[in-house]
Amino acid sequence: MMRTVLISGAGHGIGAAAARAFADAGDDVVVTDIDVDAAQAVAAEIRATGAAATGNFLDVADPEAWETLSRELRAAQRPPAVIVNNAFFQVAGVAHEQTEDNWSKQLSVTLSSVYRSMRTFHDTLTAARGNMVNVSSVHGVLAWAEQPAYAAAKGGLISLTRQLSLDYAPHVRVNVVLPGAIQTRQWNHQSSEDRQRAERQATLQRLGTPEEVASVIQFLAGDGASYVTGASLLVDGGMTTTLGA
Ligand SMILES: NC(=O)c1ccc[n+]([C@@H]2O[C@H](COP(=O)([O-])OP(=O)(O)OC[C@H]3O[C@@H](n4cnc5c(N)ncnc54)[C@H](O)[C@@H]3O)[C@@H](O)[C@H]2O)c1
Repeated sequence: MMRTVLISGAGHGIGAAAARAFADAGDDVVVTDIDVDAAQAVAAEIRATGAAATGNFLDVADPEAWETLSRELRAAQRPPAVIVNNAFFQVAGVAHEQTEDNWSKQLSVTLSSVYRSMRTFHDTLTAARGNMVNVSSVHGVLAWAEQPAYAAAKGGLISLTRQLSLDYAPHVRVNVVLPGAIQTRQWNHQSSEDRQRAERQATLQRLGTPEEVASVIQFLAGDGASYVTGASLLVDGGMTTTLGA
């Protein structure tokens, strides 16, 4: 049966790869992003393959944007059965260099957005016996220099996932993936030294692709994971298995 799958931050990178993967499997995808042009481009590309998708504006930090999208989807008879919370916002700098605004925005976009998604769509997820997949990071379990708000938000996503999996059981499963270094535009700004270090740190000796995260998200959202909830799944090429390199 065709499900409606809502993905945040799906105009680029891992979210866009997830949108393509769900669409390839026959789902109807709501490709959302604050960058609505990018979301619409991904949706148009999906529709060109004959699959179902729309590109919709969603700033995950804005409660009203969630309400607007909710009204649109309900009016269009597209209640989400699956939500992938993938959007994030990150500002590097040690804690005392972070402004109050930057700190709050990082927590709002990366962590509180998950609360907003459940508040908005708990009923449609429950009715569909659906599920949620959140996108955390290896930063949720290991520190990296000068990322205090990102680390706090990504760590929070792991405990929030566990909590939601309890509170919305037995009808809604909630899981979280922890990507390592994944080749998206995020890596375009990194130095070649940082990139090489990330490659060495992964025991698989390379960065991952967005598609390699998307396939794990899709697995967690699918019937093959019907007895998996509250789980944190590393997709890090072995990065966190070793103190090495
Ligand atoms: N790339 C990596 O190495 C890596 C590693 C670990 C975790 N992750 C996580 O994967 C997820 C996707 O990252 P990516 O690498 O694909 O990045 P990306 O920059 O390619 O995509 C992120 C998307 O989020 C959107 N976005 C930003 N703020 C938003 C907001 N307020 N509301 C809605 N959308 C917003 C952006 O417009 C963009 O389309 C993030 O949660 C990130 O923390 C990435």
